[in-house]
Amino acid sequence: RASMAHFGQQLKPPVLLVKSDILQFSELPAVKCQDQINQSSLHLASIYSFAMSALNGVVMEIQDCAFPLVQGIVATDNQAVGFKDVNYALMVGAKPRGPGMERGDLLKDNGKIFTETGKYINDHASRDIKVVVVGNPCNTNCLILANQIKDIPKENFTAMTRLDHNRAQHQLADKLGVHTSDIRKIAIFGNHSPTMVPYIDQMTAKNHKATVDQQWVTQTFIPTVQQRGAEIIKARKLSSAASAGNAAMNHITTWVNGTAEGDYTSMAIPSDGSYGVPKGLIFSFPVTVKNGKYSIVQGLPITPFYQGLLDKTIKELVDERNAVDHLLK
Ligand code: LMR
Repeated sequence: RASMAHFGQQLKPPVLLVKSDILQFSELPAVKCQDQINQSSLHLASIYSFAMSALNGVVMEIQDCAFPLVQGIVATDNQAVGFKDVNYALMVGAKPRGPGMERGDLLKDNGKIFTETGKYINDHASRDIKVVVVGNPCNTNCLILANQIKDIPKENFTAMTRLDHNRAQHQLADKLGVHTSDIRKIAIFGNHSPTMVPYIDQMTAKNHKATVDQQWVTQTFIPTVQQRGAEIIKARKLSSAASAGNAAMNHITTWVNGTAEGDYTSMAIPSDGSYGVPKGLIFSFPVTVKNGKYSIVQGLPITPFYQGLLDKTIKELVDERNAVDHLLK
């Protein structure tokens, strides 16, 4: 069972559409991999009753995709039902920042949502549930959520930086004149925010070490990746939809299927102290994944340039954690 929690009102508005977009490309059924799931029941949960009509529209679209592996669909505004026995949860909504809102206000509103949802997961979900938080501020939303959980391993709670990883891959492929799939050994460190650190020190293209001009890296590449979400909002008047949905599916698919030999990906996960990141922060690291378990890639060289960037993103996440300290037990 996979749950896609949708948190009402002014949520990332296109999220519901994203779901059907994603499903068209049938990534979700790919979660069947290995021998764990042969067919998937989808649970679509909204925390607001007024969103049920829209949710029912999504259900019709999913039905009309005639996915061979979708066994059943539950659409509900009751989170107890939504999370019942769920194995994979994609938390695609959150309250976004509105005009004049401070980051602190955003954290406060989302804090309430994720505290409550955490309790439902704790009480109703499968004990092996794997969660990816997509709704922003996703790292700290995930931290709040995970803190509500008593007997599910903390490492099952992650946030999404795969979108940033994919964005970096595209920029680099474009610069080097290769296909995105030729770019390997890159990663995103830190927060899914403009302080994120796209790390390319070990990058390969077509399996050979590849370098790009440092000036382009600092003046173009890093700011482009860091600001891509904002650029998309500017262009669409809506935040990213298809690419965010695709990245969420990539995140779960990789978590289930593993990373390719000799490559790594990016996931925001509870820090174990690696790379000097305070323990417990939900921090994006380069990870390899095997048999459903991720491991942080250790020993990557951190130059003073990267250390400076890492310090900034660490500080931002520590500040966010301090702002929601009262919600953490
Ligand atoms: C993105 O990176 O596209 C989104 O997280 C941006 C946003 O604030 O919704």
